Amino acid sequence: MDLPNRPRRNRKGPGVRALTRETLLSAGDFVLPLFLHDLAIDEAIESMPGCTRWSLDGLVKEAGEALALGIPAVVLFPAIDESLKTKKAEESHNSGGLVPRAIRALKEALPELVVMTDVALDPYNIDGHDGIVEDGEILNDETVEVLCMQAVCQANAGADIIAPSDMMDGRVAALREALDAAGHEQVSICCYTAKYASAYYGPFRGALGSAPKAGDKKTYQMDPANRREALRELILDENEGADIVMVKPAGAYLDIISDVRKHTTLPVAAYQVSGEYLMIKSASADGWLNEEAVMMESLIAIKRSGADIILTYFAKDAAKLLLS
Ligand code: PBG
Repeated sequence: MDLPNRPRRNRKGPGVRALTRETLLSAGDFVLPLFLHDLAIDEAIESMPGCTRWSLDGLVKEAGEALALGIPAVVLFPAIDESLKTKKAEESHNSGGLVPRAIRALKEALPELVVMTDVALDPYNIDGHDGIVEDGEILNDETVEVLCMQAVCQANAGADIIAPSDMMDGRVAALREALDAAGHEQVSICCYTAKYASAYYGPFRGALGSAPKAGDKKTYQMDPANRREALRELILDENEGADIVMVKPAGAYLDIISDVRKHTTLPVAAYQVSGEYLMIKSASADGWLNEEAVMMESLIAIKRSGADIILTYFAKDAAKLLLS
């Protein structure tokens, strides 16, 4: 054949492929989500093989290992004792609570680690919703007030980035104002801009015992059928002062990551959630998929679609592979 263009020339060997590769992953892209509880033992999480509910000591050790692999940040998710859960989630802003204690322990042991915290009421709320529930309704403005107290409490303990995952309207502006008023101008907001009402969160809710007691999250999390609406949320969050915008889940929402990337100059994060992790883990457990290969492919796809930052339970495994 007389072909002037032979794309295969750029694939002819590992060296040429390295030179022409468009997307590179690095450990510096990752945020490792960590589960913790107020017990002295580290406990394997049944719904998420390979993940652990850490004691404070275990948490510090695990975060130290992540940092040593080049992972700059962790994000904390607490399993809160049922006895501390209330209608108004008061424990979410208890300065002696589990998360503030964990932040202090991490910052003391690992000052250069970026500590990111989840801002939402579901671990603390007797109803298992991200906001305050009254007569079956999730109250927006009342919830935002509590989220502000929660964020200031986390910032007081030393959080570097707060990450509101609640999807209440107007929370980014309110959080920025509350943080600034408390002297935390340097605390960043990485907000869940397009967080979908997704069935992929199932294993996570199992890990924390945080599933809604009644109803679903569809009045605040987005409809998986919607694409333009993500840009509407993006404009609001940008105007309200977000520093980083996030899309969640990641793998089934690459079109949304790509849209958000094209419409903002802010860094874009994507969260490869528990169900995405579990699908890869369980399909490889019996050898049907090659875990390492599919893990890396799933992460490169998320990065290629436009994410600068990836929250993933695979962070340590992927970082190890990238170093090897
Ligand atoms: C709740 C929260 C959820 C996740 C992170 N923060 C679950 C939910 O919205 O119900 C899910 C993470 C995962 O599935 O890995 N604020």
